[in-house]
Amino acid sequence: MEELTLKSTIQVAQWSEMSEVEQQLIEVAKQSTYNSYAPYSHFHVGAALLLKNGTIIPGCNQENAAFPAGICAERSALFAAGAQHPDQPVLMLAIAVRNSKGEFLEEPASPCGPCRQVIIETETRYKQAVRILLYGTKHTYIMDGIKQLMPLSFTEI
Ligand code: THU
Repeated sequence: MEELTLKSTIQVAQWSEMSEVEQQLIEVAKQSTYNSYAPYSHFHVGAALLLKNGTIIPGCNQENAAFPAGICAERSALFAAGAQHPDQPVLMLAIAVRNSKGEFLEEPASPCGPCRQVIIETETRYKQAVRILLYGTKHTYIMDGIKQLMPLSFTEI
């Protein structure tokens, strides 16, 4: 039987190795964690999107006592961008997380499955890969497109 081996490429960057725009986007994602409403998980996620026209859209998780009614940081930002700037491709997405002690995570957190699917939809919609920056205090994971995290993805009906 043949075997299919899938390869992902993720850059592991130190702060000084990132561009000014990348650093700025991460700062917005970090700042957005302070607007997170996470009284149940105490997992405060912040996101920030860079649109093609230079607009930065922040987002953060918003929880609900009826759990599925809440939304992740990534989707809150992506849906806000779709609602306010439907003609603007999304170039970059940064994510940062603070834990229940209020500290930023050392190791980067990665988007959940449904958020990955929404990022794929964004890439398909604008025919543009979304550069993803997953911030951690130790290092930041950077990848050129969600396909690095979700190969063989479902994109068309
Ligand atoms: N969360 C996000 O905001 N983004 C993710 O990609 C993973 C999970 C949120 C959802 C929930 O409010 C909390 O983190 C714990 O799962």
